[in-house]
Amino acid sequence: MSTVLTIGADADLVARFAEAGGGDVVALGVDALAHGALLRHLAGPEAPQLVVLGPEVPLEDSFAIAGQVDGAAPDTSVVVVAFADPELWLEAMRAGVRDVLSPHAGPGDVAAVLARAAARAETRRAASTAVTSLPTRRVVVVASPKGGVGKTTVATNLAVGLAAAEPGSTVLVDLDVQFGDVASALALAPEFTLPDTVRGAAGNDPLVLKTFLTRHSSGLHVVAGSDSPAAGDAVTPAEVARLVDMLSGEFRYVVLDTAPGLTDHTLTALERATDLVLIGSMDVPGVRGLRKELDVLAELQLVPAGRHLVLNGAGSSGGLALADVERTVGAPLDLVLPRHDAVPLSTNTGVPLLVKGGKDPVTRGLRSLVARLAPRTADGQGRRGRRRVGAR
Ligand SMILES: Nc1ncnc2c1ncn2[C@@H]1O[C@H](COP(=O)(O)OP(=O)(O)OP(=O)(O)O)[C@@H](O)[C@H]1O
Ligand SMILES: [Mg+2]
Repeated sequence: MSTVLTIGADADLVARFAEAGGGDVVALGVDALAHGALLRHLAGPEAPQLVVLGPEVPLEDSFAIAGQVDGAAPDTSVVVVAFADPELWLEAMRAGVRDVLSPHAGPGDVAAVLARAAARAETRRAASTAVTSLPTRRVVVVASPKGGVGKTTVATNLAVGLAAAEPGSTVLVDLDVQFGDVASALALAPEFTLPDTVRGAAGNDPLVLKTFLTRHSSGLHVVAGSDSPAAGDAVTPAEVARLVDMLSGEFRYVVLDTAPGLTDHTLTALERATDLVLIGSMDVPGVRGLRKELDVLAELQLVPAGRHLVLNGAGSSGGLALADVERTVGAPLDLVLPRHDAVPLSTNTGVPLLVKGGKDPVTRGLRSLVARLAPRTADGQGRRGRRRVGAR
């Protein structure tokens, strides 16, 4: 079967697809839609990557066909050729149409539609493999009682590590609504930020929401922090709840970086969390803060089943011993990260440690945290065979 199947498209458009797709196009008339013939075409193992429904196919029919194709051949994208306004776009996306192409689209637009279809087919294939072997979904909140102790460092590296272990699996949300710096830690220039993802069509429709996410080169999806503290503050806990619910329906891992302390946004995220990564610093107030936060969360019954205690900045103890720290916290530490110059260098350049792939103890520690969160495959092979974090 071909890469592209056009139905009811004129010769000009077919030629543009042939040019962009290296000639691999089958062009059919609208009669191919009669009596389920199209679906029989798609039933084989080599369904086309893209079905183009041309201007000769009535729009209402296009939408119905898109839904049927989605069910019959989920790796195949449907593009409709029409003059689109935002309302039509939304209706089309809800129906399962992946792109709306103007009848006057040039070669660049046609090539972009083809590239998106190929990328989507790849993501679907990867996701379906992952879903059959790894049934667990996780919502991971990274929190700390105090500021500047390494939440963003841990959250970004954890998310990058999970995304590399399972392509298309992970979204990172910057819930530090006033002063979030996830975008900076990943050297991203986001087009959309947190407030955009909770309002309008994106706030109600997971398909639209996905178009508001920023992609990192590791394959990680990101909801970047807001542009200003005021804009971030306007995001309500209810909106955060809906966002987390929608994202956890779409991604295996939702990782949430948070502001220091227990803000309403953090508590809302914790209500939905499967895992809490709680970070403390290696000093007396930091350790006491860790204990207090754990106590408060236990009282609120907001400690999720997966609890991971991390002490960051060890080695600058000022007389504190790890055994004393564990006694004060009242629980064993799951990960101790030393102070290391590689960390500020990574923060300042926007290249996460797990992308850089160094051998320093912080990078190694962060890898072990990824391993704690990424479940073993159903065939019992653990993480063998998955892409190595930081591998080029
Ligand atoms: N183990 C470490 N060794 C050296 N520097 C570190 C270490 N961990 C974090 N840092 C540095 O400390 C600073 C704060 O880290 P980070 O931004 O991750 O903390 P945070 O808890 O997210 O802060 P905030 O509460 O302000 O959001 C950064 O400059 C980072 O590079
Ligand atoms: Mg931070």
